[in-house]
Formats: sequence, C-alpha cells, structure tokens
Amino acid sequence: MNIAILGFGVVARGTCEILKNRKEKDINVAKVLRRNMGSTKQVANDAKFLKPISKTAPSKIFTCDIKDIIKTKSIDTVVECIGGDDIPYSFCEAAMKAKKNVVTSNKKMLAKYYKKLITLAKTKKVLLLFEASVCGGIPFINTLSNMSNVSGINSINGIMNGTSNYILYKMFEEDLSFEEALKGAQELGYAEADPSDDIDGIDTKNKILISSNLAFKTVNNLKDVHAFGIRNIDISDISFCKKHKLVCKLIASASLVGNKKSQILIDVFPTFLSNKDSFANISLNNNMVRINSFGLGSIDLVGAGAGSLPTGTAVVSDLLLLNDGKEYKAEISKNIKINNEQNICDIYFRNDSSIEKDELINFIESLTKNDITVSNFNLKDDDIERLKLERENGKDIVVYTTSNTNTYLIFGLNVIQIDKLSKKFNKAFIAKI
Ligand SMILES: NC(=O)c1ccc[n+]([C@@H]2O[C@H](COP(=O)([O-])OP(=O)(O)OC[C@H]3O[C@@H](n4cnc5c(N)ncnc54)[C@H](OP(=O)(O)O)[C@@H]3O)[C@@H](O)[C@H]2O)c1
Repeated sequence: MNIAILGFGVVARGTCEILKNRKEKDINVAKVLRRNMGSTKQVANDAKFLKPISKTAPSKIFTCDIKDIIKTKSIDTVVECIGGDDIPYSFCEAAMKAKKNVVTSNKKMLAKYYKKLITLAKTKKVLLLFEASVCGGIPFINTLSNMSNVSGINSINGIMNGTSNYILYKMFEEDLSFEEALKGAQELGYAEADPSDDIDGIDTKNKILISSNLAFKTVNNLKDVHAFGIRNIDISDISFCKKHKLVCKLIASASLVGNKKSQILIDVFPTFLSNKDSFANISLNNNMVRINSFGLGSIDLVGAGAGSLPTGTAVVSDLLLLNDGKEYKAEISKNIKINNEQNICDIYFRNDSSIEKDELINFIESLTKNDITVSNFNLKDDDIERLKLERENGKDIVVYTTSNTNTYLIFGLNVIQIDKLSKKFNKAFIAKI
C-alpha cells in the first residue's frame, strides 16, 4: 500500500511513529506534503526519520505541491492531517477524483463537508475513513458504525474535548481559576494559543455532528447544532456543584426521538452530573463516549481523545482496514432532521451581577408564549432532582430565583431560546442540569 501524508505535524508524525513500530512494513510512505520545505538539514533529518517506512529517495519524499501527490498513480491512499476546512477539502476532493482513498483526522472539514465527501467517495468508488477525527485514540467511529449497522443507535453521549475536560478537572480538583487551568492546558500543548474552538464547544459540536450523521445514516448541518461552552465558568459555579454533590462536564448528546424515531435531538452543554456518574470520573484530558443501541444497551468507551500516538493509532487502524480490503461504511440513506423546538432543557444560569433580575425575567417572557412561573428557591443538597421531578408540565417555563444570589434555575426552555439567552447575556454561565 502506497500512501501520501498531507501535513507533518502532531498527527502525521504520530502516524509515522506507529507505522515504524509495526513489524510489518507493508505500508509505504511514498510522499509527504508540507507547507514549507525547511532547511536542507531539516529535510535530511525528516527523511531519516521516515526511512524505515519509506522507499522513496530522501530528496523526493517531501513536496509542497499537492499535484505531485495527485498525479502519482502508485499512491492509492491520501492521509490528511493538515487541519482547517476549505484547503484540506480541496485536497481530499482532488485525491478522490483521482481515485485515491482518503483517511482523515480532521473533524472541522468533515463536519462542514460531510455530505460532499461521502457522496464523492461513493461516486468515485473510493473509501473515506475518519476514525481519528472524533475522540482521537478511542476506537469509537468504527464501533459506532458497526453498532449502527447491527441494530441501530438510540443515542450517543460524550466528553469529546480533552482540553475542556482538563480545564474543568483542574478547576474541580485543584480549585484553580478558569484562567489558571487554561494556561496549564496551553503549557502542556492541549490548548492552542486561541482556545476558542475548545472552550466555546465548537470542536465538540463538530464531533457530535459527525457522530450523529454516521450513527443515524443521515446528514445535518452545523448551523442546526446549538453548542454552549465553558468560557464563562468560574469558581462560584464549581462551589455550587460541590455543595450539591455535582460535577460539571462538557457533554455532547445526540438521540433519536419520536414514535417513528424520525427526529434528532442534539446539543453540547456544560452539564451538572451526579458525582457518582461515570462521566464525572473522567480525569485530565481524557474522553468518554456512551453509545446506546437497541441490541447492546449502553456501552462506554474511555481513553485518550488526542495526542500524537493515540491519534496516530487511529489513523493506522484505518490504513490497516484499507490494506485488508475492509471498511466501515458512512452512508446517507435516511433523512432524519434535527428538531430544536422540541429539545427542551433545564438549565443553571449564573448571571453577571450587573444584570437585574427583572431584565432576565422580561427577556425570558419575550422568548416564549408559554406561561412563566417565577418561584423562590432555597436549594438543599438533592433539591435539583426533586425540583425536576416536581415540575408539573414539561412545557411550562419555571424560573427558580433567589433574592441573595445571581443564580437561577430555568426549567423548560428549548435550545433555540437558550441560545438567544446566552447571546443576550453573553457573560452568563449556562449549564444543563
Ligand atoms: N493533535 C491532536 O491530538 C489531534 C487529535 C485528533 C485530531 N486532530 C486533527 O488532526 C489534524 C492535524 O492536527 P495536528 O495537531 O497534527 O496539527 P499540526 O501539528 O498543526 O500539523 C499540521 C501540519 O499541516 C501542515 N499544513 C498546514 N496547512 C498546510 C497546507 N496548506 N499545505 C501543506 N501543509 C500544511 C502544517 O505545516 P506548518 O508546520 O508549516 O504549519 C503542519 O505540518 C487537525 O484537523 C486536528 O483537528 C488532532
């Protein structure tokens, strides 16, 4: 098998390390695309690094021109590890048009171009595999596809972003501020200089959409997935959780609902969970996904969601499937759409202290035709569960408020209304309860 690797960063090098570590040398790295060639010394060093897994002459392995790869007929598979969306899409599109299989670790590109990529792979009779794109090293995508084909998926829930899990974990375990925990994540290379995709839930949104598309054999758009991040969490929210024996995790969910399972509810929320929940125990930058299927019930997968070797492992597992003539099939055979109107949630809302209570209540009133009940609460340990059980009608909006804090529990808004609330009060921290 002759492959070309696009990019030579964390994932690409991890992939090479895993290939080098295998006894079999049946996968030949014929070319590597990089943005800049680098110095002669650097090229020589990198060629040496690739030697055990490349039969190409050292001076010819690296190229900065994608056409060198597309026009080389002997390259049957392109491994995309560049990142971004439009540029890698154009490279993958060109590769598939030239009858090359594509393996990618790129969730941003996949979430944006899922339909185009899956359709192109089908028409060109090539394969598109993407195990590394969601939850890094965890063998999730292959498992999800398998469970979907065997008995159908009911729901997926997951901690899918290691950076935000690391930040929340450090805030809980070491009482760090958000800024201190983020700085630690950046120093360890978990978070980028601009961490927005991780802390605003955008990376998680890409991953849950890809998972939902694959599991439910449909295609939906990113604009229909509402994601709320952890940017505004502070130590008062952590204290609230600790007082009520809760833990906060950034959870992505997608489930099939309705009598005929004809709709999808999907969202990304910081979520307050019982400290006994399995998700609550996911430490540092690890990931966990729970898949519920008709046949198996629930299974949990836990492990490294990112990192050079774990992600390289996922890429190589895709390459071995291709090498053995096997595949998992991403199909678009159903038309199941996201229903945000019916995605009713109960939330914790801590506002900026400068927001008046009446301003919040008035805004919620403007969002809905339903009656709003405003009640005082004086929460005790397990009151959140009790309040949820006591709620008479899921569609009524109940705002539990207290005179001496800026914390509210709001029951019964849908995700579109919560999105408007978060845009209006953009310093507030919102979590699902
Ligand atoms: N890192 C992880 O743990 C991880 C886990 C799962 C998935 N992923 C995904 O895997 C992909 C790669 O991530 P990474 O961490 O390996 O990124 P990275 O370390 O930044 O590496 C990206 C590589 O691509 C090269 N590149 C960028 N644009 C290019 C272009 N137009 N033409 C040629 N080369 C180009 C970069 O070159 P320069 O060095 O010149 O910029 C760099 O070598 C991303 O989609 C990411 O989301 C990463």
